[in-house]
Amino acid sequence: MGIFTLSSIVGTLLLFLGLWVGPTTSSMVSPPTFQVITSFNTFDARNVSSWSGGGGQKLNISTDSFHPFAGREFGGGDRSTIRGTRAFGSGYPYGKNDSSTISGRPFPYGVWPLYWGQNIKGSDEYGSQFDTVRPGGPLVIQAISSTTAHWNVTNDETYYMLTDRDTAIAIMTSFVTTCHVTPVWPEIFDPGNSPIKIENVIQYYRASSCALGFKGYNNSHALNTTTEATYAESDPLPEVIMYSPFHHCIDSVMADALPIMDRPPKKTNKVKMILIIVFSIFGLPILWGIWALISCICNR
Ligand SMILES: *[C@@H]1O[C@H](CO)[C@@H](O)[C@H](O)[C@H]1NC(C)=O
Ligand SMILES: *[C@@H]1O[C@H](CO)[C@@H](O)[C@H](O)[C@H]1NC(C)=O
Repeated sequence: MGIFTLSSIVGTLLLFLGLWVGPTTSSMVSPPTFQVITSFNTFDARNVSSWSGGGGQKLNISTDSFHPFAGREFGGGDRSTIRGTRAFGSGYPYGKNDSSTISGRPFPYGVWPLYWGQNIKGSDEYGSQFDTVRPGGPLVIQAISSTTAHWNVTNDETYYMLTDRDTAIAIMTSFVTTCHVTPVWPEIFDPGNSPIKIENVIQYYRASSCALGFKGYNNSHALNTTTEATYAESDPLPEVIMYSPFHHCIDSVMADALPIMDRPPKKTNKVKMILIIVFSIFGLPILWGIWALISCICNR
């Protein structure tokens, strides 16, 4: 058997392999993800992804540079605790030692809490001066409304989402595909000039790093509750929200898809890695050697 037959067999095999692997990988859509880098020396980085289950070990922000929150814990929060209440500072699965302030707290989902200006509940330490290093980018605001006949929503049923830029863009994709939301791009958040204020928040998510607001709701308790206040310690929602299937859809997508920090990757087995590398480099020569050996024996 000649070398041409061999190469055509190998070629055919590779072709089939390509057909088999190719379409699967290219049609796969990866979930919207952004990275949180916490060290410039060790490449410490973890992904924050939509639909992630979160959880895993907590880590500490490295002290190898002048990170504003060096030493604080981050990660470990899982999706089951993603909803807070209507109290700013709610929704922390851990690190809620002082319910009068959010200052000094860890980052259970990898991202930082919101700020409302005027140091409300100690939020100035996460203020706009650090927007450039905020995980997911600066705080933005985004209108969430729908004009399709699907929901039969009226003009005044417009919600506003306040969160970091990457989260806003990632979740808008889910709103548009799942809840028939009219697509819009986010706008920069300015606490003094925002369409919604702290008293308009109907729900906090992800350790108060994301809020859903509604202009027609004015929570008289917003500024004078603790971060652990329950729903009962806020004003009730107007009926238009309470029985709205559109709101229900928005809230479900928030809870299911909001990007959160993935658990740390498993340590890869070294022997397995070496075998994979050896075979990916020498696989064909090894196959060729075996083939040559077999044909040599058979042709005797
Ligand atoms: C849509 O809403 C209007 C006003 O609330 C109501 O009168 C109408 O019956 C609704 N239509 C459908 C199909 O539910
Ligand atoms: C909410 O109500 C208070 C008290 O009536 C008022 O001062 C405040 O401006 C209201 N907030 C909004 C956003 O309408």
